[in-house]
Amino acid sequence: MTDSNDPLSGYTRRNFLSDLGRTGGAGAMYAAMGALGLFAPPLGAKTVDFVRPGPPRRGGNVVILGAGIAGLTAAYELGNAGYRVTLLEARTRGGGRNWTARGGDTATETDGITQTCRFDRDQYMNMGPARLPQHHVTIDYCRELGVPLEIFTNQNADAYYYNEGPQFGSMSGVKVRHRTAKADAYGYIAELLSKATNQGALDAQLTSQDKELLIALLSNWGGLTGGTYQGNSRRGYKTPPGAAAQTGVVDLPPYSLSQILQSRFGLNFSFEFGWDQAMLMFQPVGGMDAIVKAFERAIRPRVKSIYGAAVAGIYNTANGVRVVYTDGSRVAKQIEADYCICTIPPQILKNIPSNFSPAVQSALGVPVPVSTGKIGLQYRRRFWEEDEGIMGGITNTNLNLATIWYPSYGYLTKKGVVIGYYNFGAAANFYSDLSPAAREREAITQGAKIHGPAYIDELENSFSVSWLKTPFSEGGWVSWPTSGGQRVPAYTLLNQPEGRVHFAGDHLSYYIAWQAGAIESARKAVMEIAQRVAA
Ligand code: ALA
Repeated sequence: MTDSNDPLSGYTRRNFLSDLGRTGGAGAMYAAMGALGLFAPPLGAKTVDFVRPGPPRRGGNVVILGAGIAGLTAAYELGNAGYRVTLLEARTRGGGRNWTARGGDTATETDGITQTCRFDRDQYMNMGPARLPQHHVTIDYCRELGVPLEIFTNQNADAYYYNEGPQFGSMSGVKVRHRTAKADAYGYIAELLSKATNQGALDAQLTSQDKELLIALLSNWGGLTGGTYQGNSRRGYKTPPGAAAQTGVVDLPPYSLSQILQSRFGLNFSFEFGWDQAMLMFQPVGGMDAIVKAFERAIRPRVKSIYGAAVAGIYNTANGVRVVYTDGSRVAKQIEADYCICTIPPQILKNIPSNFSPAVQSALGVPVPVSTGKIGLQYRRRFWEEDEGIMGGITNTNLNLATIWYPSYGYLTKKGVVIGYYNFGAAANFYSDLSPAAREREAITQGAKIHGPAYIDELENSFSVSWLKTPFSEGGWVSWPTSGGQRVPAYTLLNQPEGRVHFAGDHLSYYIAWQAGAIESARKAVMEIAQRVAA
């Protein structure tokens, strides 16, 4: 069993409430009840009530390992409170997985292959996090740090579903707009349920008034005519409506019920119901790393940041912690501090020497790194907008691409960067093993099945990432094994300090693979240290 809280899967109401009940306290429960329509909580209700620390009287010397979003949050909060903070980061940039690639950037994966990004000046791609739900704490930091946001289009009625394979029958290789698939699927489901209701199949469940109301709801929701689904303008038009006598010609007939079921398109619908994936979604203007830059600007006067410093040892001592690091110079350096916040991902941390207990050491090996990757394809022409009328959003496919993302910035301009794949697991591993050039070739060969020759012909260059092969990350995020529906004890153990070392990161939250998880977890560590310092 792995975690039911897979960041991309549907999340049942019960899991959701019980997870929150375990971790979140009242704030989370209220937010959850609001999300389920029980009442409307204030927007931005937090999972943990964060109390900003006051100035430390003594023992306020903290070393933070990792300048990803967790480390930056901790540095920001402790620095603001007057702690003496040193922030060590192995990379030569901050942000961790919050990484925006632009022209001139280079990246070397663990196999030693280096890519150079050749995007034009105003083009970029978010290699890691790329969408912010409006209720995440991340938005509050954007507000506080002055990071301007714009809409990220997570769902677009005019994007496609496309599946290939014998199991899809006559729908194999047919690209269908989201709106068309939804019109047909909702229509047929409404018709069936409406018939069942009228034939008395639900008499045990429904009063006669309920039946009437249900039939009215189904007729409206499914777009039924006299109780049957015949297709309608929700599917789209062959000729759109226009002036004078142009009534428009609706795209009919609908696919048959059997075709729609066979297409499995309906299995994609619930994605947009997700707590974290429902519109509206947001992105920082100009790239996700605007959040990183804003944190870095804010901490600069108060925090000593050392980048290019790889941690080589973490030791609890009699009265504090000692961290050994290498910065490229001959001799390893070390820092002594009262406390440490360690945000290094478990799959990296488990290989760093330490005097952690055997239990902690073994717990670090429990979470399973998840493979994920992306490719950015810079096109000389925005054919998805010009030829296909797709203004942002995401196409879903069972091809090894998994998803194609159209940019949510630069609409109507000349060029654009399409995310040619954002995939997971086996598909991500497949691309991970290819050279950058082969990743590009495969991505455009597959994508051309959906978008036609323009997908190959209009390409200018590409830039890709395998998170499994990215040094200091070696995974997109982690998945926790579960037992009896609960995360295994290793999760609980790592959520407790080991001596004076407090662990933090999205992997220690129920917002895995979200910056909000990193922030919430960092704030928990900050509060715990503040309590210890005050005691
Ligand atoms: N939070 C990640 C996403 O939205 C998993 O794709």
